[in-house]
Amino acid sequence: MFEKITVVGAGHVGATQALRLAEMQIAREVVLVDIIDGIPQGKALDLYESGPIMGFDTRVTGATDYGKTVGSDLVIITAGIPRKPGMSRDDLLSTNAGIVRSVAGEVKKSSPNAIVIVVSNPLDVMTYVAKEATGFAPNRVFGMAGVLDTARFRTFIAERLNVSVEDIQALVLGGHGDTMVPLVSYTTVSGIPLKQFLGQDEIDALIDRTRKGGAEIVAYLKEGSAYYAPSAAVAQMAEAIALDKKRILPCAAWMEGQYGISNTYLGVPCKLGRDGVEEIIEVELTADEKAALEKSAEHVRSTVEQLKKLG
Ligand code: LAC
Repeated sequence: MFEKITVVGAGHVGATQALRLAEMQIAREVVLVDIIDGIPQGKALDLYESGPIMGFDTRVTGATDYGKTVGSDLVIITAGIPRKPGMSRDDLLSTNAGIVRSVAGEVKKSSPNAIVIVVSNPLDVMTYVAKEATGFAPNRVFGMAGVLDTARFRTFIAERLNVSVEDIQALVLGGHGDTMVPLVSYTTVSGIPLKQFLGQDEIDALIDRTRKGGAEIVAYLKEGSAYYAPSAAVAQMAEAIALDKKRILPCAAWMEGQYGISNTYLGVPCKLGRDGVEEIIEVELTADEKAALEKSAEHVRSTVEQLKKLG
């Protein structure tokens, strides 16, 4: 169990995140931070007051500065502007880089030993920005994407086959975006390969929907992007870390030669425990999957270069 988790950004993702974490009781305190005075304090108090009904003792507080966050074990960065219909995650690049850089600078000062999970988009690049701005070791700075992308893929498969989502295991690697790489050979229904249930065309359709899963929600909401499934994904990662569970979950992790890829963040299976990303698991890939993963890494790298040019 953690003493304190800070969630930065009190928008839909951040507030829902704080709610999930409070209900899970994996930390004694959850601090919600936002720059708009009144919003984090009001949402946090409202949430705290649901404790007697929902049965949690987690203390929930809100703030516009980092005083209350001092000494956090885990910081979740959700701050940034979301997509509007027709925008790609990369369109958010320079605005969100400025926001994430400044938040990460505060985290470095107030919680020098924290683990940082980045949720802001474009995810893989914002995770890089957070690593640079905190200077923390990469096992302590990583991004949420794979658990969300995998959950979407699992949902669509379960719906199509009319079976429980509990029995669907899947692995989605790569960047969080159009270049994500769903690994069909590691996708099973209670251990039975998906290919025994569906033809390639049907699998391709489910993959395509997964790839565009975020945009599908943005198109409905018009203002803002998804938050229920993203916050659930982070909550699962946070639990694995707080309880030192050593779960194997796909995260945007800093690559140091794994899969032949270096110096970029990329979605890969990670062992999550008290030290954050304790290990990157290398699974066997087909030549096509390897090429797709490399292409995904190249996209993340080129977006980082684009950001550096913007200054
Ligand atoms: C999504 C956004 C949060 O995938 O990236 O819904």
